[in-house]
Amino acid sequence: MKTAASLVLAGAGLALAAPGRFASSILKRTGYEACDNDCKLAGAAFPDKHTLQLMLENNWSEQCPPIYIGDADAPTATSRVCLDFVGPNVHFSFSSFPGYTYKSGAVSWKLMGNLINPGSWSAPPPDNTVTCGPNPSGDGLLCALPFSDILGTSAITSIKDLLSGMCPNGDREGLGLYLEFSGQVESTADSSVTSFKNQSPCTSRDASGQCTARDTATPYIEMAYRCSTCNVAACPPDEPEPPVTTTCGFGTGFGYQSPQKSLTLNTLSGQGCKRWGWYSTPSLAELQGGGISGPLYVGAGNNDISKATNVGTWAATANAAGSVTVSYLLNPPYTLDEVHVNLACTPIAKCAPGQYTLGKGGLNDVPTFASGPIKYPPCAGSSKAALIVHAAVDVLVEGTTCPAKTD
Ligand SMILES: *[C@@H]1O[C@H](CO)[C@@H](O)[C@H](O)[C@H]1NC(C)=O
Repeated sequence: MKTAASLVLAGAGLALAAPGRFASSILKRTGYEACDNDCKLAGAAFPDKHTLQLMLENNWSEQCPPIYIGDADAPTATSRVCLDFVGPNVHFSFSSFPGYTYKSGAVSWKLMGNLINPGSWSAPPPDNTVTCGPNPSGDGLLCALPFSDILGTSAITSIKDLLSGMCPNGDREGLGLYLEFSGQVESTADSSVTSFKNQSPCTSRDASGQCTARDTATPYIEMAYRCSTCNVAACPPDEPEPPVTTTCGFGTGFGYQSPQKSLTLNTLSGQGCKRWGWYSTPSLAELQGGGISGPLYVGAGNNDISKATNVGTWAATANAAGSVTVSYLLNPPYTLDEVHVNLACTPIAKCAPGQYTLGKGGLNDVPTFASGPIKYPPCAGSSKAALIVHAAVDVLVEGTTCPAKTD
């Protein structure tokens, strides 16, 4: 005996197509709750329970195949097993037989194969078994067959991969399964125990869809389904990763004042002076009245400013007491790692910055620095106070690759 729900489905099929023929394009296809809140499943196909059909019955649309007690042709009692796709499982809900309680129930199953590829189908009978337990949300039994068992994949496969296994063709034919239902029930009247099983495939139906003949030689049923597309919006695009920045050593910088005022270090005879870089010879009055300043250049090999990088500025001033302060201001992305200032009377003995009057390292990439006071030296005769402004300059780069350093 068919239930009201399946009669409605059967009726719809009859009205829309030849008897028993499944009108897949017209029946409503609805959601699968695993899709609903998972934006990663946007565009994925899921097995649609509203498309379940019995292949051996001319693809008769059926979500709840019948089970019976007693004689197949004149059953003592009938019930049904409803299939559903819940999360990563096929659920089989065994409805109660009126007048009986379940003692046991099981689903025998076997994957037939991809519905669009009949040449690859496996042969019956179903030879895997899942046993059923009490249905937490009803009075019958519930069996869960994991998609991962059907597909023979790991139980920790992602739902997205499981769905693509269950729906190998996307939004169309899915897989076919051989199924058999069996178990035992106890009569509430006399406690007698009886077996139940699924009805064999129906071979003929009357105009109202009632089965009038069965293929009793076939103990199993063949269940097929189609897939539908998850109705969920795509995930918002990922936030872009904040760019990785790296502090790199950029090179040696020297302060420059002007073509007239800047003299090249390589004109000096001191140790280590045969290199690029400049010094100037400001008077104390010059430093006290407004001071001197200019760009800080890195990489002016052969004193060629056109090839150098202007990384910032420097300035030197003196107070009334004759104390000189040199300050640096670097332009981003350049920063200071070390500064060295030399203010001494010519001839300059050494040009290596480590030997200068004042030096400070470990500046931690500050953009500005002001030296402590340096006494303006009293130079006699033709000797002049020579000022060398030096810095070890770093650069902040995007990414992790540092440019080649200039000395
Ligand atoms: C039933 O459906 C299967 C799978 O979609 C298909 O291969 C088969 O041809 C259909 N049978 C009939 C009778 O329409």
